[in-house]
Amino acid sequence: MIKFKVGLIGTGYISIIHLEMLRRFADVEIVAVADSNKQSANNAAKKFDVPKVFYTASELIQEKEVEIIHNCTPNHLHFEINSEAIKAGKEVLSEKPLALTSEESAVLVELAEKHNTVHGVNFCYRYYPVLQEAAARVRNGNLGDVRLVLGHFLQDWLSFDTDYSWRLDPGMAGASNTMADLGSHWCDLVQFVTGLRIIEIMAEFHTILPTRKKPKSGPLSFGASQNNDVEEVKIPVEDYATIFIRLENGARGNFSTCQLAIGKKVDIDLQVYGSKESYSWNHVHPNAITIGHRDKANEIFYESPLLQTEDTRKYASLPTGHPIGYHDTIYNFFMDYYTAVAAKREGKKIQTNYPDFYAGHSEMKIIEAAVRSSKSGGWEKVQGK
Ligand SMILES: NC(=O)c1ccc[n+]([C@@H]2O[C@H](COP(=O)([O-])OP(=O)(O)OC[C@H]3O[C@@H](n4cnc5c(N)ncnc54)[C@H](O)[C@@H]3O)[C@@H](O)[C@H]2O)c1
Repeated sequence: MIKFKVGLIGTGYISIIHLEMLRRFADVEIVAVADSNKQSANNAAKKFDVPKVFYTASELIQEKEVEIIHNCTPNHLHFEINSEAIKAGKEVLSEKPLALTSEESAVLVELAEKHNTVHGVNFCYRYYPVLQEAAARVRNGNLGDVRLVLGHFLQDWLSFDTDYSWRLDPGMAGASNTMADLGSHWCDLVQFVTGLRIIEIMAEFHTILPTRKKPKSGPLSFGASQNNDVEEVKIPVEDYATIFIRLENGARGNFSTCQLAIGKKVDIDLQVYGSKESYSWNHVHPNAITIGHRDKANEIFYESPLLQTEDTRKYASLPTGHPIGYHDTIYNFFMDYYTAVAAKREGKKIQTNYPDFYAGHSEMKIIEAAVRSSKSGGWEKVQGK
């Protein structure tokens, strides 16, 4: 019965959601986990009854039984681990951002093509059923021409100078904090829903808290440390960004993101205005979109396996009126990703409407254009292979 043998690297915050969602698939067996933090690896193995535990990524990658690797390590390890996994012949599902630079992500795309890897990047928010529905309505022509895209992604977990995370260290996170961590998700939603590429960006980056108290020991994923042994450190990356965007069809947009927006937890807002109708979605109420009309009353469209278009029904997996949640978005992504793995095994063509390394690479180029613009003060093209 078991068809897919999975190994997961990096047993921190997001990995637990990967492991929980993988357990919903009867044909997936989690055969190994790895983390350089032995206690974290052991805890995850115990909790999820995983037989093999490793304390280095390489050992897990070289484990013959492992066929598919979920890479849940911090950003600076994505390139190295994804490359090694691809070269070892594994399928790779990586956390976002795909790498630290677009040079690295371009190499990963090339490697994955060369090795015929089934590759995925966890841009999970697009898997809310109503966002799949919005994308389908754009594809079907309901929206008309895309004219304008607006939105934000706000959080508050970095509001105090006692809040610290590896996401503020460019050595681990890359040249951008907020834009890479949150902006990449929003830009993925824009490109997914509209089907259009973002081609130019003008950005303002700002660091609201330029110094913070960093715990002297232990890495921190999110929020305030309980550790009083801290050192003052300068923060070289932004914690606020606003960008203006131009899409390939000439449509315009703007977006703000910040992790010091007190009171906002995961407030993602996306508004897409077309020549016939508009879609407004907010993650605070993620199960519905407002379909806006000019000459008749607006509609609230609630996710529904009965009412969604044919190809997006499968994502609204509960009877109409029962809301799905963040976990289910990751389950929905895995459903598409593992369908692609199965298709490859059966020698069929892989359907590529899920977020793959091409999407991950595209987001790296967007982040880099935003970083360049924050320095030049002008419009920058999203460029590179
Ligand atoms: N898609 C999403 O919505 C989403 C949400 C959260 C995090 N993420 C991404 O997931 C990744 C991990 O984030 P997190 O919040 O889970 O971080 P985390 O710090 O909670 O977990 C990272 C884990 O990796 C382990 N690790 C570090 N170095 C290692 C090494 N050399 N070998 C093996 N393990 C190692 C750490 O010990 C830790 O357990 C990041 O890239 C982040 O951007 C994505």
